[in-house]
Amino acid sequence: MIQFYNLYRQDKDTHKKILSGIKKILKNGDFIMGKQKNIFEKNFAKFVGSKFAVGCGNGTDAITIALKSLKLPKNSEVIIPAMTYCSTAFSVINAGLKPILCDIESNSPLIDINEIKKKINNKTKVIIPVHLYGSVVNINKIRNLIRSTKKKIYIIDDCAQAHGAYCSKSSKKVGSLSDISCFSFYPGKNLGAYGDAGIVTTNNEKIYININKIANLGSDKKYIHDLVGLNSRLDTIQSLILNLKLPKVNKLNKKRVKIAKSYHLHINNKKIFKLKYTIGAVYHQYVIIVRNRKNFINYLTKKRIGYGFHYPYPINKLHSLRPFFRGQNYKYAEFLANNGISIPIDPNLSVKEIMYIIDSLNKY
Ligand SMILES: Cc1ncc(COP(=O)(O)O)c(C=O)c1O
Repeated sequence: MIQFYNLYRQDKDTHKKILSGIKKILKNGDFIMGKQKNIFEKNFAKFVGSKFAVGCGNGTDAITIALKSLKLPKNSEVIIPAMTYCSTAFSVINAGLKPILCDIESNSPLIDINEIKKKINNKTKVIIPVHLYGSVVNINKIRNLIRSTKKKIYIIDDCAQAHGAYCSKSSKKVGSLSDISCFSFYPGKNLGAYGDAGIVTTNNEKIYININKIANLGSDKKYIHDLVGLNSRLDTIQSLILNLKLPKVNKLNKKRVKIAKSYHLHINNKKIFKLKYTIGAVYHQYVIIVRNRKNFINYLTKKRIGYGFHYPYPINKLHSLRPFFRGQNYKYAEFLANNGISIPIDPNLSVKEIMYIIDSLNKY
């Protein structure tokens, strides 16, 4: 059986260091706001090339905290792609703002910037591009679009699937491209903790000060709560794990890129359509489009190849969100949701396993 993802195999070489590090934390007892959190925030800011980073509880909170830090009027509009994980939309609603959907491109998983233009009005205050599957949205193009409208609109990018990805033009890393950037360290991400964890990065000191407080119950001094915040702190043990795993991310991403290149070059079956990824992509998922997905899934099961869906419902079709988007359709997001399937892109797949996947797909 080729597993969809095997985290144990990926981290085996680091387990010893993690366990001895946890032992030290057990002795120190600095479980909340401990030394490792500070160290990780500095390390991660350096990794992405941003001035500031604030750890938090998870990627969903990271977006909520980023939005709250801007102190926008209630019901301000926030443009998000119709194809993303539910969290992008939930964070907007939980921050008291209104999500406005925008379709994705026809041949890629990324928001269609030409569509964004049609959605901007006087209530628009934020655009949240999502670097879905680790492919990188052209933030510069969105910035130029905003400039042309002469409006004050912030860009908060959802980087949950794009640790280490970069903009092909400037070579700057995701996490340093927008006003605020939000990451998840859910275990299966390109950089994953051993539980829930997230981080927010920014170059703006004022925004940083707000974010720092909001993630810690509105406080940066004991007993002083200036803002109504969340209890969403990156805990010390997760910080330690992330500190030990961060130096491995680029190497693992390179392996993902190599596998993706093999798929791209060698899968050549007319029944399988390959999505376009950007040059600086880190292939969090490798998603293909197939006709008659049910049949294809039966075939993968027979061949003992793991698979996943990212995601089977576009935002407008999620049960909880249907009332927000009644009567709205997003052609390409819906097409991807109905026909997309994620095949294994675990960085530690062996050459034999990769060849088996390619061969099986070509014989479908
Ligand atoms: C695109 C995207 N946004 C946001 C999130 C939310 O992250 P978390 O699960 O850490 O809350 C995820 C991860 O699941 C994601 O993939």
